Amino acid sequence: MFAHLQPSTPDPIMSLMEAYIQDTHPQKVNLGIGLYYDGSGNIPLLQAVHIAEQRLLEQQRPHAYPPIEGTGLLASQIQTLLFGEQTPRLATVQSLGGSGALKLGADFMYHYLARREIWVSDPTWANHWAIFEGAGLKVNTYPYFDDISGGLRFDAMLDTLSSLPEGAVVLLHPCCHNPTGTDLSPSQWRAVIDVLQRRRLLPFFDIAYQGFGDGLEEDCYALREMLKTEMDFLVSNSFSKNVALYGQRLGGLTVCCGTAKEAAHVKGALKTLIRRSYSCPPTHGSQIVESLLADTQLRQMWISELATMRQRIKQMRVSLSAGLEQGGSTLDYTRIRDQKGMFSYTGLNEQQVSQLRHQYSIYLVAPGRMCLPGLNQHNVDYVTAAILDVTRPA
Ligand code: LMR
Repeated sequence: MFAHLQPSTPDPIMSLMEAYIQDTHPQKVNLGIGLYYDGSGNIPLLQAVHIAEQRLLEQQRPHAYPPIEGTGLLASQIQTLLFGEQTPRLATVQSLGGSGALKLGADFMYHYLARREIWVSDPTWANHWAIFEGAGLKVNTYPYFDDISGGLRFDAMLDTLSSLPEGAVVLLHPCCHNPTGTDLSPSQWRAVIDVLQRRRLLPFFDIAYQGFGDGLEEDCYALREMLKTEMDFLVSNSFSKNVALYGQRLGGLTVCCGTAKEAAHVKGALKTLIRRSYSCPPTHGSQIVESLLADTQLRQMWISELATMRQRIKQMRVSLSAGLEQGGSTLDYTRIRDQKGMFSYTGLNEQQVSQLRHQYSIYLVAPGRMCLPGLNQHNVDYVTAAILDVTRPA
């Protein structure tokens, strides 16, 4: 029955992580997968999470089934985090991480809205392609990043969006663009929203790194501007990074609708999709986030821990770019300094990325995406020297 199956193509990001784990080089550095490591190179257990988890344990709650869509408390907390408010126009369900929200959104658009295509930024997170193609959508691109100048192809982006057919689905990153770390400014967002509105497009916002750009509120500028319009749109959000709950697979899908009645019907459709796919979501991660956000003190603790993570990444950007500048690098190190979120699109080419991996055991996602939190005081000089070496003109 299975003899015809061929070896599968490994996932470019996850397989890199596996190779990194196998690597025995004493100075290996993981700058691949989007994971936050602290200054000692460990994935942190946030103090706010630890306390919330201890309280849960003390309560000795039984492991009952949650509602198909997750609890109403989590849904309202997600809405407040994203929009600063709750409104009956929003239908929010719990999802299996940000990826699960994207798949659920894709299934919703395919089965309930008869969408067969989506437009994503060029470039975008590799798994966007896999998720949307896997859900049966044809994936097209709109121009986004200019590898030569290291800036946005903003006019070309607007031109393409302006030429899309009415109702076309457009995937956008509200902050911390993955993989380029290059975001739109508030005025550019207003121009994009204007086109989305004029052309009556259907935006799908993927916010997986809320809080890693300029701050929890600032990173939601585009979403909050969207809510001021009458437009329908989707949002996938994730708690993997900003609460460091990677393995709990916790996120949300929010659909902004025209009316409360529509929102109720959309939620019903999402519940149908969830029930026939995995029945209902897991509860441990959602209970942690619920109690963390419901308690003023814990919430404050989390916000300041998130700020510490954000600031440490910025410091690493400054250290690496300063080291490259001092070493006379030919690489445009200003990108590394100025881009936002966990990633930098360094401009290192595939061959240089391969050399870094095979000569130095430094792992980046090709072509040239670096996950900055893998850097720390102990390895930044090693990485700087390696990059100077592989970028040295022949
Ligand atoms: C990444 O882009 O590295 C992260 O979003 C993790 C993943 O699942 O790929």
